[in-house]
Amino acid sequence: MATVTSQPGRTPLIAGNWKMNLDHLQAIAFVQKLAWSLKDAGHDFTSVEVSVFPPFTDLRSVQTLISADKLPLAFGAQDVSAHDSGAYTGEISGAFLNALECSYVIIGHSERRTLHGETDEQVADKVAAALRHNLIPIICVGETAEDLEQHGPSAVPVAQLRGALAHVTTAADIVVAYEPVWAIGSGQAATPEQAEQVAAQLRAVLVELLGQDVADKTRILYGGSVKAANIAGFMREPNVDGALVGGASLDLAEFASIVRYQKHVGL
Ligand code: 13P
Repeated sequence: MATVTSQPGRTPLIAGNWKMNLDHLQAIAFVQKLAWSLKDAGHDFTSVEVSVFPPFTDLRSVQTLISADKLPLAFGAQDVSAHDSGAYTGEISGAFLNALECSYVIIGHSERRTLHGETDEQVADKVAAALRHNLIPIICVGETAEDLEQHGPSAVPVAQLRGALAHVTTAADIVVAYEPVWAIGSGQAATPEQAEQVAAQLRAVLVELLGQDVADKTRILYGGSVKAANIAGFMREPNVDGALVGGASLDLAEFASIVRYQKHVGL
C-alpha cells in the first residue's frame, strides 16, 4: 500500500466551491446530508478537513445549521471586499464574514479574474482584508491555455502568487489553490505530475517571501475537474495538500467520495 504523502503538520483540505449554485434551502439540505453521510461512513474529520463555499445568501443558514448541530464542517465565502465598510454597493465586508463564523474566503478565483476583471492588485488588497478579519484566504492562481503555451506552466501562477502576497509580511495563515484555467469545468484535469510541478514552484515562492516555517505549514490545493476517480493521484503528490472542487462538490456522493480519498483502492 502506498503511503499518503501529505506532509506532517498540513491537514489535507477538501473544499467545495459551489459557485452560483444552491439557494439557502438547498444548502441546508445538502450540508445536512453531507455531514450525515460522512459521519455514517466513519470519516475522520481531523485527518481530512472538509469545507464548503456556498453563495453569500446561504451563509447565515449554513452557519446556523453547523453551529446548532455541531457539524464538523468548515465553511467560507467565495469572495470578499477589499474594504471594511462604506459606500461600496453590492460588496461584502470581511467583518461580516467573520461575524458569520466563516473560517475561509476564496480570493482571486479565475472566474472573478476573467469575468469581473480582478487584477493582482485587487487580489492583494482582498487578501489583506481577509487577514485583517481573521479569515484564512484561499488564494487562487492558475494559467490559461494560452499562458501555458506562451510561458509554460508555472510562470503565471508564480507571478499571481507574488502579486497576491504583496501586503503579507508576517507569518500568515493562508491556503493557495492552483487551478489551471484550462482544467476548470473542462473535464480535463491536469495530471498529478503537472499539479505537483507547479505546487512545488508555488511553495518555493512561499519559502522566499514568508519563510520556511510558513511555507511548510501552508496547504496548496489543486483545482480543476477534480472527481472521485482522480483525487487519489493528486493526493499522493508531496506538495498537493487537498483540492478545490467545483462541479463535483454539488454531487453529494461524488463529493463524499472525494473527501474519503484515503479509502480508495491503492492508498
Ligand atoms: P471544476 O471542479 O468544476 O472544474 O471547478 C474547479 C473550480 O473552479 C473550483 O474553484
